[in-house]
Formats: sequence, structure tokens, C-alpha cells
Amino acid sequence: MKDELLGLRTKALEELKSVGERSDIETLRQLYLGRKGHLTLLLKRLAELPKEERPAMGRLANQVKEELTGQFQSVSDSLTTKELEEEPFLDVTLPGRRTPRGHLHPITQITQEICTIFSTLGFKVVEGPEVELDYYNFEALNMPKDHPARDIQDTFYISDNVVLRTHTSPMQIRTMERQLPPVSIVAPGKVYRPDSDISHTPMFHQVEGLLVDEGVSFGDLKGTLTTFVHQMFGPDTDLRFRPSFFPFTEPSAEVDIRCVVCQGKGCRVCSHSGWLEILGSGMIDPEVFKIVGYDPETTSGFAFGIGVERIAMLKSGLNDIRLFFENDIRFLRQF
Ligand code: DAH
Repeated sequence: MKDELLGLRTKALEELKSVGERSDIETLRQLYLGRKGHLTLLLKRLAELPKEERPAMGRLANQVKEELTGQFQSVSDSLTTKELEEEPFLDVTLPGRRTPRGHLHPITQITQEICTIFSTLGFKVVEGPEVELDYYNFEALNMPKDHPARDIQDTFYISDNVVLRTHTSPMQIRTMERQLPPVSIVAPGKVYRPDSDISHTPMFHQVEGLLVDEGVSFGDLKGTLTTFVHQMFGPDTDLRFRPSFFPFTEPSAEVDIRCVVCQGKGCRVCSHSGWLEILGSGMIDPEVFKIVGYDPETTSGFAFGIGVERIAMLKSGLNDIRLFFENDIRFLRQF
């Protein structure tokens, strides 16, 4: 039995030397020291020995058991140390990872830019409802129910008297109803018309402007809008006021800027005219003053409506308005 014991010891230590993985150590431990391991089974046979041999053999067996247990532990410990040393080095002085940061939508950026220019000129920024009464969207803007100008603006109707506003001009009425002159506001926001093609989307944005006081002239209109164009497109931008018609202004004018693509030589973007329309404007029609209870004899003013997408497209050289609303992140990132 003594030889068997010493043989087991030698064999176990030998095998332990060639162990490389933690799981192998465990398997080996079970093989020798586990409940049905070689050493355990051998110890059970101590009882079969003659009485006088048992103490010496018992002592030897315990020695071997202790030695093996210790060896298994120390090989296991040194494996642990090796694993820790191999773990990737954690450099706590490295800078943190940047959190991706978004930005405002290009249409929001341009809207804010427009509003900032007019704020600097003393205009107050106000906002109003997108679901609007027929009264504010048409009637009070000098477009009664049978007025032909209603046909120009196809309209989303919610009910007979409620529409999705087709322009921001109702904010002129809402503002004048609430306060007496002097008035100077800009009103940015969404507007809706059932149109959809390369240059129309069913929802788009306008910035309305209104200035009312005593003795406001067409010269004030020209000066204000010229300042706006020069701040928005640069001080060398050519512009012109072209006669037009709107039911709520008289006289009316549209403002064109020299084509930013061909510099006026004529190209597809400007339909070979050399000019690009960017806004509608005019002197407030006396009929509108009467409707809101202002005295047309002592009061005058001008209004304008700017198409935000139009400005954004001209500034960025885009020709398809729909890109703004597809929300393709690769497109939006460029602004
Ligand atoms: N509301 C007009 C439109 O959508 C634009 C406009 C024209 C606004 C002349 C005005 C104005 O305030 O004076 O098409």
C-alpha cells in the first residue's frame, strides 16, 4: 500500500506540472482527491490493513493528501496571477468617448436666422395656431367665401369653418385684433396646402411680417425688405420689387433676388429669367384695417410673407424641397 501511495503521489505531481488551464486543474483534483478519486478510494482501504500497520500508513496517507491539496492550490493560484497579468491594461487617463450631438433641422436654422434679422430691426416674434378658423385664414384677409383668390390656395378643410392654415397671414389679423398700433411682429410657422412635387410639399414654412403705425410708407417696406435680403444673402445681392396682387395688400409687390445659381445670366433654376422670387409683400389694404377696427385714415402699414424652404434651398443650392422632410440623417448632417 505504501508503494501504491507514493506512486499515486508521483503520478499526480507529474500530471499537475503539465496543466495549463483552470478547468484541467479541477478535473485533476477530482481524479485524485474527489469523492471517488484514487487517493480517497485508497484511504478507504486502510481499514483492511492489519491493526499495527494502520497508524503509520494513516499518517503517510494524510501527508500525501495534504501535500497534493497544497500543490493543487498553489498551481491554481499561479494561474490566477498569470490571468490577471494578461488582462488588458486599463488607462484611466484616456479622455472619455464623445456623446454624439445633433443639431437643429436646417429649416429651423433658417427660420431662426430670419427671425433674428427682424428682431434686430425691432420686430417681436409671435406664434399662432396651425388649425385655423376660415375667418382668420380667408375672410378677414379680404377673401370672402366666393372670392376667386381662394382658388389660388388649395386648402385642407377640417370642417366648413376650420382649415389647416394655408399661410401665416392670419397672424396679421390675430395680432391687430389684440392690440392697437404701433405693431411690428414676425410670425414663423408651419402652413399646409395639398400640393406635392419637386418644389411643393403638403406642409411647409413661412415667416409672416407686419408693421403698422402712423405714416408708414412703401419706402419703409422697401427699406426693411432690402435690409433683410442683404443680411440674409449678402450686401451685394441684387433685388427687385415686382408688382403683384394679394387680396389683403394694396399695392402688392413680390421681391426677387438675382439668381444665385447663374448670377442673372439665365438658367433652369430661374426659368431663364435671371431672377428668383423669395417673398410676397404689400401695403395693408384699408379693407383689412376696417375689419380689425383700425382707422384706415390715420393708420398705414406693410406686410410680407417669406417662404422658408425657398430661402433654405437658394442658400444651399438644392432643387428638391422634399429632401428637407425625408429625415435622411445623411442629408441632415450636412447642415
Ligand atoms: N400669404 C401669402 C402667401 O402665402 C404671402 C404674402 C403676400 C404675405 C403678401 C403677406 C403679403 O403678408 O403682404 O402666399
